Amino acid sequence: MNHLFLAAEGGGPGTVPLLILIVALVGFGLAYFVVGPGKRSGPKRNADIPLAMRPYHADEELETTGMERAMAWGVALAVFASLFIPLYWLIEPTRINNAVDDFYEADVAAGRAEYQNACASCHGVNLEGGSAPHPSPDVDAPWPAPALDNIVARYADSEIVPDVREFILLTLIHGRPGTPMNAFGVAGGGVYSDNQLEQITTYILSVQTGEIPEAQAFVGRSGEDVFEVSCARCHGPNAEGYVGPQLWNVYERYGWSGEDDESLVQARNAVRQVLQEGRNLPGNAPMPSFALELTDDAIEAVIDHIESFQDLGGPRTAQIGGLPEGDD
Ligand code: HEC
Ligand code: HEC
Repeated sequence: MNHLFLAAEGGGPGTVPLLILIVALVGFGLAYFVVGPGKRSGPKRNADIPLAMRPYHADEELETTGMERAMAWGVALAVFASLFIPLYWLIEPTRINNAVDDFYEADVAAGRAEYQNACASCHGVNLEGGSAPHPSPDVDAPWPAPALDNIVARYADSEIVPDVREFILLTLIHGRPGTPMNAFGVAGGGVYSDNQLEQITTYILSVQTGEIPEAQAFVGRSGEDVFEVSCARCHGPNAEGYVGPQLWNVYERYGWSGEDDESLVQARNAVRQVLQEGRNLPGNAPMPSFALELTDDAIEAVIDHIESFQDLGGPRTAQIGGLPEGDD
């Protein structure tokens, strides 16, 4: 009978299963009293003989009324089952859907509250984005905290993020080492349970606007300015490496010999590709894609700037970020 209680619990539509139960009981009652054992009335047989001493039915009765009574019970129970089971089957999917909706709404509400406590100070009360101080006291530039109300749209065509929900959860569990984005999950040293992080993620996904601001126009700004604003926080003010690798000889890492133009074009293409598509290797901090943040001109300007300080024969490895020499 457990399922009946569940059926009656579902709030508003919970009255429907009750109704089904009543209809089925009435059907059962009719069958019982009209054709079944209940139709017989009159003085009770053997009323004053103790139960254990009463004579059992005579053969004649067993073969007629007794048998009919048993068959009538069968009819009554069949009527009950044939009404109750199909009606219940019709109602059950709706009940389950409503329960799922209720759980979803509860998650969104809990996630909203948790977001306001833990995230709004950097990512904005309405997920519009904001900023946080740079973790290194030597760097003056604030560190932008991305808007989260368009994260689905921003990564929609991304090859490095196939599943945005998973991506948000991983970011929350592990944080972004070296950036102001802390680890919130217990696995990363935070205090939030997996369930709470799921709730926050559900909330974030429930308030997506789908709108991406136009690529910010860096018209007239030098590649150096762009580097300072968009790259220095991760690659260091002098490209010496911080969360991301040093860029002093990144062209060489991508095959530039310092002489021929062909390998120069190749190296520039490789750097452009990283800038446009970003890179997210497991175990490394992610390099964000700048396709939505910088215009093509700004990207070319910053590539020129990087080229201007290439130091052939300088340090050969990409210190931070863990790229071995000759990778890619
Ligand atoms: C102290 C400021 C701060 C707080 C608090 C904070 N974040 Fe962040 N978050 C950041 C910064 C800065 C980044 C960008 C890191 C980078 O540049 O890689 C970031 C990145 C992210 C990203 C990746 C966004 C993207 O577009 O790739 C997600 C998702 C995120 N945060 C969610 C959250 C959630 C949810 C919370 C609350 C549980 C939270 N953050 C709390 C500062 C913060
Ligand atoms: C949020 C931090 C972050 C920001 C901001 C950032 N990068 Fe990166 N970048 C990284 C990380 C981390 C890597 C290493 C990714 C990997 O290969 O695992 C990287 C890799 C690169 C590489 C490839 C280096 C190599 O050796 O393969 C280039 C080139 C690069 N970034 C240029 C830029 C430029 C130019 C900007 C500014 C427009 C920028 N990055 C902004 C974190 C960042």
